[in-house]
Amino acid sequence: MYSAYVFDAYGTLFDVHAAVRAHANEIGDDAAQLSEIWRQKQLEYSWTRTLMDRYQDFWLLTEQALDFAFDKVPSANRSARAALLDAYWNLACFPEVPKVLKALKDAGAKTAILSNGSTGMVEAAVTSAGLESLIDDVVSVERIGRFKAVPDVYRMITEDYRIYPDAVSFQSSNRWDVAGANAFGFRTVWCNRGGQPEEYRDLPPDLVLADLNGLIGAKGQPV
Ligand code: LAC
Repeated sequence: MYSAYVFDAYGTLFDVHAAVRAHANEIGDDAAQLSEIWRQKQLEYSWTRTLMDRYQDFWLLTEQALDFAFDKVPSANRSARAALLDAYWNLACFPEVPKVLKALKDAGAKTAILSNGSTGMVEAAVTSAGLESLIDDVVSVERIGRFKAVPDVYRMITEDYRIYPDAVSFQSSNRWDVAGANAFGFRTVWCNRGGQPEEYRDLPPDLVLADLNGLIGAKGQPV
């Protein structure tokens, strides 16, 4: 049992590909490719902006990444742009999320989101997914103006809660984020929803799960 269970937002609690899926018919045959490029570019911009020390709000990077994806996939119907951004702002959570968060809170743990997303966009997703009463705190990188996986991002949690890194269980579906959290000293859980191959082998996850259900044991206790 850990004092705090801290979650990555996009891809871990919220389904980033749900936005494109909801508008797949309008976008056309290359919708899945558009979604992959959108996500990959959004992340790339977060890393390069941190290296350059030129922070921009994650929402802006999300818009820029979508525009690049449309340029790269000309077959995709650009008239879906506004609807896609609206869907991304109001994402749904993965089905097991409410139940798992409730079990963690019932056991007395703190629950938090630690995200590249700006506070506004993460809080909007928390609301649209109906998780307001199940998430204690939303911690955004906007406070320090640098993105994951710099150690100072993870340090916001230990400073806010005045706890040591090993009292934190950190869950992410992004293997590179798990690596960063492991390097900082958190217990790490890789929620490998996509069945991705292993990487960053010197910074391994403590636990690998197919979804977040595995955070709760057979008797309802946090793992
Ligand atoms: C986040 C991205 C990395 O929520 O998924 O921080």
